Amino acid sequence: MKRRPSSPKSKPVPADSIPAAASAVTSRSGRFAGGPASDVAAFSESISFDWRLWRQDIRGSIAHARMLARIGILTAAERDAIESGLGDIAAEIEAGKFIWKAELEDVHMNLESELTRRVPAGAKLHTARSRNDQVALDMRLWMRDEIATLDAAIAQLQSSLVGLGERHPGVPIPGYTHLQRGQPVTFAHHLLAYVEMFARDRDRLADCLDRSNVCPLGSGALAGSTLPLDRKFVAVELGFVDARGHPRITQNSMDGVSDRDFVVEFCADAALMAVHLSRLAEDVVLWATTEFGFIKIADAYTTGSSLMPQKKNPDIAELTRGKSARVIGNLMSLLTLLKGLPMTYNRDLQEDKERLFDTADTVLACTRLMAAMLDHTTVRAEACRAAASDPQLLATDLADYLVRGGMPFRQAHHVVGAVVGFAEKSEKALNALTVAEYQQISPAFGPDILELFDLDAALARRNLPGAPGTREVQGQLRRWRKELG
Ligand code: ARG
Repeated sequence: MKRRPSSPKSKPVPADSIPAAASAVTSRSGRFAGGPASDVAAFSESISFDWRLWRQDIRGSIAHARMLARIGILTAAERDAIESGLGDIAAEIEAGKFIWKAELEDVHMNLESELTRRVPAGAKLHTARSRNDQVALDMRLWMRDEIATLDAAIAQLQSSLVGLGERHPGVPIPGYTHLQRGQPVTFAHHLLAYVEMFARDRDRLADCLDRSNVCPLGSGALAGSTLPLDRKFVAVELGFVDARGHPRITQNSMDGVSDRDFVVEFCADAALMAVHLSRLAEDVVLWATTEFGFIKIADAYTTGSSLMPQKKNPDIAELTRGKSARVIGNLMSLLTLLKGLPMTYNRDLQEDKERLFDTADTVLACTRLMAAMLDHTTVRAEACRAAASDPQLLATDLADYLVRGGMPFRQAHHVVGAVVGFAEKSEKALNALTVAEYQQISPAFGPDILELFDLDAALARRNLPGAPGTREVQGQLRRWRKELG
């Protein structure tokens, strides 16, 4: 035992000698004549949504109780009684048998009240703790758990994207800018662009986790405590440690209770991720149209129309695109919620929970559903190849051909522009013009010029690192498969 309260008067009082009234668990006990008006209770309760923090709240209470025993405020027996009482309650919640009471406001009061009803020592649990640092702790713990779940789901989505690419290697599609056909790429290359985006999303979440993984408990209501708490012990108990296992605790009690940066950061990372999901969803919606016809989504992952019998709609992708709106909105709500708050805790902060929960639930569901949908999607290779065989996609290759012969690129761009204009006027495809017609426009075109329109050869020419060439893309697919397992 490192530290003990200095005064001998602080010897533990047996919990069962505490008068019942003194152990009543409510924020109004003593000071108020009665309970709140019923509409006040209904307006201010948070149990209807913050019950979701119960696991984290119990984990935090157990760590706090162990620390209180360590500094001599709880006896070992009291600590054990609290731990087993909380264990019983956890089992009841897990089994769906626990009854949450709205009149007890929130998850913290519900759990402490029920514990104290069963275990007299429960009345000592809130020593040197406020719901202000308690809720700050619970939120950090909850987010930590959620990031782990979300990270695994994103990895699964990346794996689904890589898998779809692997099942259709070398299938060409047009690459677009301005949604106009630009140059040929491989379908897998297009998918891998999203794998890269989601990799950055995972990095950002890991970064957010690292910055959030700091223990606020011990900040009290706002000014810490006069009791000799061992904050570092609690931090280690709860896994708030750095790479070397050293405790990480917040360094300012006022910041500790009022900071919600970590929630904003998570919701910002999630909003950007939702934007990535939404862009992927939009590509899927386009690809599934009759006009594009690049993919076929399995029936189980589409919906029908109540009126038009022929319809098969990509609703998962559409909803993913649509749900990004609420994730972006949640971020805006949080920033607005925080911007005018004076220090330190204000009840406004209770509004952070639904935004955080909704954000986490929404991005997780979208990530999982998009992955499952991609696992049940096939690529219509002939349609893809037909679209990519548009010879206009190789106009840039014509210019590169001239550059290889020594022509300055600006001039080459102009010459090929003239070729395209001529072809359009004569209503012929670029690969249907004769060599003589090419040479009439510029003698720099050789007799081999029409060979340039071989699509597979054109893709094989694009093998710079990061380019859509077949060999390069195979390499990228292998790299990602190895990384994702
Ligand atoms: N339900 C509250 C919240 O979510 C817990 C903290 C309440 N603190 C207080 N001083 N009323 O913010």
